[in-house]
Amino acid sequence: MRRHLLRNTTLALFLTPLLVLAWMGRTADAPGDDEAPVARAALPEGANALSSDSLAASRERHVTAFLERLGEQQNAPAGEVFDSLEYFQQVPAGRLLRIMNMGFGRSLGVGCEHCHDTDQWSSNAKRPKRVAREMIAMVRVINDSLLARIPALESERPVVNCTTCHRGDVKPALDLGAEQDG
Ligand code: HEC
Ligand code: HEC
Repeated sequence: MRRHLLRNTTLALFLTPLLVLAWMGRTADAPGDDEAPVARAALPEGANALSSDSLAASRERHVTAFLERLGEQQNAPAGEVFDSLEYFQQVPAGRLLRIMNMGFGRSLGVGCEHCHDTDQWSSNAKRPKRVAREMIAMVRVINDSLLARIPALESERPVVNCTTCHRGDVKPALDLGAEQDG
């Protein structure tokens, strides 16, 4: 994997700003994440409302604690600040935390604890963290190899991100649920 990473470093540097936007669900021509609240509003009344608020608050607390601890280092490449990154070394440390919060946590509807031992953030002991790494690899194949080979698409650079499938759930839906009446 390391060798593969090195080979792609130049490409990664070039694409990183665009991909980072995609991770966070914000691309120039696809509002992505911004649409999530609309989709949520269609859920049965009360469903998940409280728990998703408290999960968001809990994630926010972790991010704020990290940002305070990092200070100026927020702008340093995440790979210089954190121990065990395989994919996000080039991204500024502060932005890595926002990707974790919005791109990963909110997309899956989970707290940081779903993937992390919060006393040892670099640990890979939790299964979902290991799955998340494989998901990053899968998303890259979809974006860089599969979507890129559909020439008749109108977008210049069509992308999927975690939100595309997960939409606030750990298990992506296989159907649209009950019919809504308008
Ligand atoms: C869906 C799983 C998932 C969630 C949820 C998640 N993370 Fe992560 N996190 C990861 C993965 C995977 C990596 C390693 C990425 C890589 O290899 O480049 C990581 C890496 C990190 C690192 C770097 C650790 C180190 O020392 O290398 C920090 C810090 C971190 N996450 C913080 C957070 C915070 C804060 C939250 C909640 C706001 C969060 N994460 C939510 C999966 C997750
Ligand atoms: C193309 C659709 C798709 C995309 C894009 C996608 N996932 Fe997934 N993800 C899935 C499916 C399907 C599963 C399996 C759910 C199940 O267990 O049946 C899954 C499972 C997971 C799990 C395991 C959850 C658990 O606790 O068992 C994690 C973590 C995860 N995805 C993280 C991510 C992250 C992070 C991203 C973005 C980097 C991402 N996924 C992008 C489809 C996707």
